[in-house]
Amino acid sequence: MKTILITGCSSGFGLDIARHFLDRGWQVVATMRTPRADLLPPGERLRVLALDVTDPLSIHRAVEAAGPIDVLVNNAGIGAAAPFECMSMASAHEVFETNTFGTMAVTQAILPQFRQRGAGVVINVTSSVTFKALPLLSVYRASKAAVNAFTESLAAEVEPFGVRVRLVLPGRAPETRFGENARSHMAGLDHQAYAELVKSVFASFGESGPVTYSQDVAQAVWRAATDPDSPMHLPAGEDAEAWAAERP
Ligand SMILES: NC(=O)c1ccc[n+]([C@@H]2O[C@H](COP(=O)([O-])OP(=O)(O)OC[C@H]3O[C@@H](n4cnc5c(N)ncnc54)[C@H](OP(=O)(O)O)[C@@H]3O)[C@@H](O)[C@H]2O)c1
Repeated sequence: MKTILITGCSSGFGLDIARHFLDRGWQVVATMRTPRADLLPPGERLRVLALDVTDPLSIHRAVEAAGPIDVLVNNAGIGAAAPFECMSMASAHEVFETNTFGTMAVTQAILPQFRQRGAGVVINVTSSVTFKALPLLSVYRASKAAVNAFTESLAAEVEPFGVRVRLVLPGRAPETRFGENARSHMAGLDHQAYAELVKSVFASFGESGPVTYSQDVAQAVWRAATDPDSPMHLPAGEDAEAWAAERP
């Protein structure tokens, strides 16, 4: 029976990825900053562990407690929206600490066992915003674009050991807690100079049109985990697929 470890399972995509793999008979290590036993159906194949991706000791303890795993999903992440000149550098560091360095640190903690076993899959959840130069998202987009570049190079580095590395790029998913969790990294949205831009960007968020659902992301992660021929970039969600197709 295969085992998957997922970061950021307290809500949104992480929670649905965990459900998806549990429903298909996998052993699931669902990790959360603050573990909650009531979010997923209890059973012998589920373990809920504490893991804060910005805390080296927490990573070490979770990886030790998890034991051998077959698939790692770096899903934990935080959003941010601000005209760049209004964003504090502390906020920018926090976004990178979670989205970029958190992904790298958990990957580094798991890689030795994958290399020694000659098998394993790392799946990094980034974002379809890396397909387009959108305003107000400069820091968030940069934190995810860095993970794209990291992932592509890492894939070439560990492929000779039988380790696969893939990217899942979801589109906009209003149903998760992402927008709410990004609030502490929003700034300057009332700045007079940016008022028109902010209005038009937020109006576009409210427009009807295709969006991404957690199930789309869970399915893309499933494909990355189980299909050795899956492509490096897996857009997840109708909007993400459209943006990927429009890419020059
Ligand atoms: N929703 C979207 O529109 C969208 C689009 C593209 C990509 N994404 C990406 O998809 C991933 C999941 O987002 P989501 O939409 O499911 O949002 P979400 O509901 O806010 O879930 C994010 C998860 O990350 C966790 N997290 C945050 N900081 C963490 C840390 N330091 N250590 C461990 N876990 C941490 C949160 O846990 P806590 O409960 O402890 O805060 C939460 O479980 C993120 O990487 C996000 O950037 C989202």
